[in-house]
Amino acid sequence: MKKKKTVFIFIFAFIAIVVTGYIFLFPPGKTAEDEKLFKWITSDTGYYYYQNNPEILPTSEETERAHDNFMRIRFNKKAADVLNQDGHLPKGVMFPDSSIIVKEIYSEKTGAVEVLAVMVKLKGAPNSNKDWLWAEYSLTGDVEYSVSKNGKACISCHKSTYDNVRIFELRK
Ligand code: HEC
Repeated sequence: MKKKKTVFIFIFAFIAIVVTGYIFLFPPGKTAEDEKLFKWITSDTGYYYYQNNPEILPTSEETERAHDNFMRIRFNKKAADVLNQDGHLPKGVMFPDSSIIVKEIYSEKTGAVEVLAVMVKLKGAPNSNKDWLWAEYSLTGDVEYSVSKNGKACISCHKSTYDNVRIFELRK
């Protein structure tokens, strides 16, 4: 009987330590939230379209339709500042913190934007993965892929020597 009680106390203490430890490591306020992130990416102005070209382009085969048929990629100023004259990321250069890359996703070239796929550079942020936050939103901010999912559905495909940004290796 006594032994059972000790085991219970031990298990209880263990769970308490794990929970407290988790809250200590990932305090709720520090986790990027969808609403805040959506506000951030939509309030940032002065986006630069990939290679300064506002044309809507077909998405590459490599997306395996993860991003529908057509796209337009844009960079906030922080991100665009490290690109070279051809609109490319020079080899070995990494995007600085607060860089934002938005991929507008369209099912038809002449249609309206359907989804905004987003990468935001925030090194070491609790739900970052490979130093980026990953999320997808509708134009009005409905969550299509939550930032709280740590980009688990994104990173298997987003491997590239250009700071995990795919466009630079696919289009020269
Ligand atoms: C099956 C592969 C695949 C998956 C999964 C995927 N992507 Fe992509 N993504 C790509 C490719 C390839 C590109 C390059 C543009 C193109 O050719 O369509 C791209 C481009 C992007 C871009 C523009 C910057 C860049 O890397 O070129 C963003 C932003 C983006 N994806 C976000 C996401 C997010 C967020 C997720 C997860 C919710 C995700 N992607 C999942 C393949 C993928």
